[in-house]
Amino acid sequence: MVRQHVDPFQSRYQELIEIPNWNEIFENSNLPILIDIGPARGKYLIEMAEKNLDRNYLGLEIREQLVTKANEEVKEKKLRNIHFIFCNASLNFIPIYESLKNRVDIVNILNPDPWYKNSHKKRRLITLDFVKGLYYNVKNGLEIHIQSDVEELIKDIDQTMEFFFEKIGDDFPVISDREKYALANDETIFKRIFRKKIR
Ligand SMILES: C[S@@+](CC[C@H](N)C(=O)[O-])C[C@H]1O[C@@H](n2cnc3c(N)ncnc32)[C@H](O)[C@@H]1O
Repeated sequence: MVRQHVDPFQSRYQELIEIPNWNEIFENSNLPILIDIGPARGKYLIEMAEKNLDRNYLGLEIREQLVTKANEEVKEKKLRNIHFIFCNASLNFIPIYESLKNRVDIVNILNPDPWYKNSHKKRRLITLDFVKGLYYNVKNGLEIHIQSDVEELIKDIDQTMEFFFEKIGDDFPVISDREKYALANDETIFKRIFRKKIR
C-alpha cells in the first residue's frame, strides 16, 4: 500500500541526493526543462512529456513507491525526456535546479498537501523559507505554476509568494491528476502563475 502522506522531517527524508548525470537520463539534456514538485504517480506529467518532445520533464516526489512506478511507465513507453526522482524537494530542489544550469524555465507545484493542523504547517512545501530560497537561487523570469483546491491554502500561498514573486496570471494549460478528480467532483481549482520579481 502506498502511504497517503509522509512526514518530510523524518530522518530518511532529510538526505541530499546524489545529482544524476543528466546526459545519461535525458536523450538531449540541453532542452528546456520543467520541474514538477510533488507529482505523486505523475500520469499527467508523463502525458505532457509524450506530447512535448521538445522539452524535458523532471518530477521530484517524496513517496518512493510512486517514483518507482512512474519510472517503470517511462521505461515501458521508452520516453527519454522525462524522469522522476525520489527526494524531499524542500531540501533538494535548489541543488538539482543549480545542476541543470539555466535550462529550467517552469516549476510546477500542483496541489501541495495542505497540512491543515497548525502543528503540521511546517511540513508544507510552500513556506517563507522555501520561497526565500527559491528567490535567491533561481534566474529572473523563472515561472512558478501553482494550484490548489483548498482556498485557505491558496490564500496563504499568495501571501507567502508575493514577498518575492509577482503574480502574472491565474491559468495554465495543465490538468493534473488531482485536478481531474476535483473537476469530476465539481470542486474549484485555484491556479496561479508567479514570476520572479526583478529588484
Ligand atoms: C496532493 S498530491 C498532488 C499530486 C499532483 N501534483 C497532482 O496535482 O495530481 C501532493 C504530492 O506532493 C508530494 N510531496 C509533499 N511534500 C513533498 C516534498 N517535500 N518533496 C517532494 N514531494 C512532496 C506528496 O507525496 C504528494 O504526492
